[in-house]
Amino acid sequence: RANKKALFLEIYKKAARYYYYSLNQRENEHALNYFYQRGISQEVIKHFGLGYAPADYNIFYRMMKQEGYEDEDLVESGLFIKSKSKGVVFDRFSDRVMFPIFNINKKVVAFGGRILGEGQPKYLNSPESLLFDKSRTLYGLHIARQEKHPYYILVEGYMDVIAMHVAGFTQTVASLGTAFTEGHARLLKRHTEQVVILYDSDGAGKKAALRAIPILRSQGIQVKVLQLEDSKDPDEFLKKHGADEMRKLLEEAESHVWFRIKEIESQYHLDLPDERVKFLQEIAKLLGNLESSIEQNIYTKEIAMKYQVSLDALEAEIKKYFVAKQ
Ligand code: UTP
Ligand code: MN
Ligand code: MN
Ligand code: MN
Ligand code: MN
Repeated sequence: RANKKALFLEIYKKAARYYYYSLNQRENEHALNYFYQRGISQEVIKHFGLGYAPADYNIFYRMMKQEGYEDEDLVESGLFIKSKSKGVVFDRFSDRVMFPIFNINKKVVAFGGRILGEGQPKYLNSPESLLFDKSRTLYGLHIARQEKHPYYILVEGYMDVIAMHVAGFTQTVASLGTAFTEGHARLLKRHTEQVVILYDSDGAGKKAALRAIPILRSQGIQVKVLQLEDSKDPDEFLKKHGADEMRKLLEEAESHVWFRIKEIESQYHLDLPDERVKFLQEIAKLLGNLESSIEQNIYTKEIAMKYQVSLDALEAEIKKYFVAKQ
């Protein structure tokens, strides 16, 4: 088992080197230009170990065979696929720009590969393996953890992490398309007490933020949420507005409680009495389920004032939902 891990680490390291080398080959200029067009410099390519898997369907496989690796091991590493019909082995990634995924010891344990233009899937990730557990891996953490940060920033994608780091926000990590899990939250808790969620500004991003909040809160992490207004994600925002504007927004990020309340509010017409009742019942449920009773107390008062309901009535409603926690 230990040998197998060492073998896979060796294969991923070889792969990362090969992809990096290929990116800088004259015949693959289009891939390098893809990165340049997205504002990724040679320095950033090096920092994140970015690369390119050539279009040839088995070029990397042939290289690995020449070096003496066994088909079985190569396929098990996840970087190669064996065709069911003919049993032929070929590269999983071809004609994609490559993002190595590092574990916290800075070892490559997986890859994500992006198609150069339009097409599906946009990103292809190598499968889970002996070394790669998606729900315990955060892209960018190997760099973020090198310094102390007052808070971490959680984004959706590879390009967001890279753009944020380039802009100086080196505390940014991503859960990479997979839903944010308890494993991710535990991992973050080892490094920080506070997280700002900065997901894409579409409906999916908002939904994913609403799902991530209680998971982070259950690990005792303080949570704020920042929603971008005129950009689809942090990468695009930084291109439009730059790092200073991002810093301002981060400083103003709102507490997860207000983010959730706003979300609930958007579902009701508060000028209609019946809807107001339902809205406040929903808010009571939210408050009753807050992980911290201090938080509950403070927001209960604020909400009673803001929505003009008596504190007694709101508290009575909250008690129905209150989950006693010692
Ligand atoms: P997005 O679709 O928001 O991609 O998915 P992006 O990061 O903004 O990509 P660019 O800017 O178009 O290059 C967010 C993340 O979800 C995962 C990837 O980790 C991606 O970065 N994802 C997305 C996949 O794993 N597969 C996909 O097909 C799409
Ligand atoms: Mn998205
Ligand atoms: Mn993007
Ligand atoms: Mn995006
Ligand atoms: Mn601006």
